[in-house]
Amino acid sequence: MDIRNYPAEPFRIKAVETVKMVNKEDREKVIKEAGYNTFLIDSEDVYIDLLTDSGTNAMSDNQWAGLMQGDEAYAGSKNFKHLEDTVEEVFGFPYLIPTHQGRGAENILSTIAIKPGQYVPGNMYFTTTRYHQEANGGIFVDIIRDEAHDAALDMPFKGDIDLKKLEKLIEEKGAENIAYICLAVTVNLAGGQPVSMQNMKDVRGLADKHGIQVYYDATRCVENAYFIKEQEEGYADKTIKEIVVEMFSYADGATMSGKKDGIVNIGGFLALRDEKLFQEARELVVVFEGMPSYGGMTGRDMEALAIGLKESMQFEYIEHRIKQVRYLGEKLKDAGVPIVEPVGGHAVFLDARRFCSHLEQEEFPAQALAANLYLESGVRSMERGIVSAGRNVETGENHKPKLETVRLTIPRRVYTYRHMDLVADSVISLYKHKEDIKGLKFVYEPKKLRFFTAEFEEIEK
Ligand SMILES: Cc1ncc(COP(=O)(O)O)c(C=O)c1O
Repeated sequence: MDIRNYPAEPFRIKAVETVKMVNKEDREKVIKEAGYNTFLIDSEDVYIDLLTDSGTNAMSDNQWAGLMQGDEAYAGSKNFKHLEDTVEEVFGFPYLIPTHQGRGAENILSTIAIKPGQYVPGNMYFTTTRYHQEANGGIFVDIIRDEAHDAALDMPFKGDIDLKKLEKLIEEKGAENIAYICLAVTVNLAGGQPVSMQNMKDVRGLADKHGIQVYYDATRCVENAYFIKEQEEGYADKTIKEIVVEMFSYADGATMSGKKDGIVNIGGFLALRDEKLFQEARELVVVFEGMPSYGGMTGRDMEALAIGLKESMQFEYIEHRIKQVRYLGEKLKDAGVPIVEPVGGHAVFLDARRFCSHLEQEEFPAQALAANLYLESGVRSMERGIVSAGRNVETGENHKPKLETVRLTIPRRVYTYRHMDLVADSVISLYKHKEDIKGLKFVYEPKKLRFFTAEFEEIEK
C-alpha cells in the first residue's frame, strides 16, 4: 500500500470529543445486555463508532455559524429559501419539501406516487424505502445488475440498473402498473456501489419511452459523483457539482437523507419537478411533518444543510472521504479479510458469509460478527444481511439476501487514518479466531424494521 495515494485530512480540528475504551469484561456484559444487537449498545460504551454514517457527521465552523442564523419563524423562514435555492442550484428541482429525515420524504413520495398493486423497480432495496413502498401497497422488484449480488466481484458501477430486467418487467406488467423507477445513488446495501452516468441516461431513455417517472434516492449522490469523475470516461475534467447537476437532470425528483452527504446531524427532503405532485406533497407534509416552509426541520438545521450540501461538493473534501474509506478496505484486503469489492463510498462491508463460513445464514452470521467485533475491540458496526432484510410480507418467510455483510461505516470528517489502522487491526485480530464466533437466535423479533430493536442469544452447540 502506497500511503501517498491517500490524501491527509483537508481540515484542522477545532473541537474534540473524548472517546474511552471499555475493558473486555465490561464489553461482554454490554453486548449480552444489548441482546447481541449493536443498535442497542449505549454510545458511551463504544470506542470507535462505525454503526452508521447517518447523522454522525462533524459539521464545519461555517455550518455551526449557520445555526446561529436560524430563522425560526413558523412560516416563510429565510433558511427555507436558502435551502430551496441550493437544492434548485445543485439538483435542478424547483419544488422542495423539507422533512425530518430521509424516511419522512420516502413516506410522502410513496403515498402520492404509488397506487396499491403497482410495482416499484429499484436498484436493490433500502430498508426504510422499501418499507414505505410496501406500506402503500407497492410491490418492490429488485432490478440491479446481477453482479451487485456477488460480494467478491471487483468491477466499476456495480450499482447500475439492469436495463433488460427493467424492460422485461415493463413488458410483463405493463407501464401503467409501474408506479415509478427508484434509483439509488449510491446503493447502500450493495456496499455503497455507484451508478454510472450512462446507466442514468439509459434508464431515463427507457422510462420516457414508456411514460414512467424516475425518482432518485439522493442520499449519497456526492459520493456517486466522485466515482463518476474518477472512473467514467468523459468526466475527469468536470467538477463534482457539474456531475451532480447532470445526474439529476435525468430524474423527475428525489428523496434525500441530509444526514449523509448533506453533512448534518438531522434533516432530509423531497424535491420535485412537477407542480401538481408538489401540491399533493404539500398537503401531506402538513399532516406528517409541519408547515411546508419547515416540514420536519428547524430553521437552523435547514441553514446547516444548505451549507453542508455545498461543502460536500468541494473536491478536496470528497476525495479524502472516498480515499479514507478505501484505505481501510485495502488494509483488510491485504490481510486476507473477505470484504465486498470494490470498496464503495461510505463504508467497508465485511463479507460475513466467507468470514463466518462455519455458520448457516439462518444463524445470522453478520449479526454475530458485528457483536463479536464489539466484543473484540469496542468497535461498533452494523449487520446488513438476513436480519435487515426482514420477512416477505405475504409468506412470512425470511428474505435471504445473497449479501450477508457487516458494515463498517465511516462518519464524515470524524475519524483519522490512525483510527482506520486501529479498526483494521481489530478486524484482522478477530479474523484469526473467527471459528469462536457463535451463531445467534431471536429472543425478540419486532414485526417492522426488526434490525433496529431485535434481541438475540447465542446458540450453544
Ligand atoms: C440509501 C438510503 N436511503 C434512505 C435512508 C433513510 O434516511 P433517514 O435515515 O434519514 O431516514 C438511508 C438511511 O440510512 C439510506 O442509507
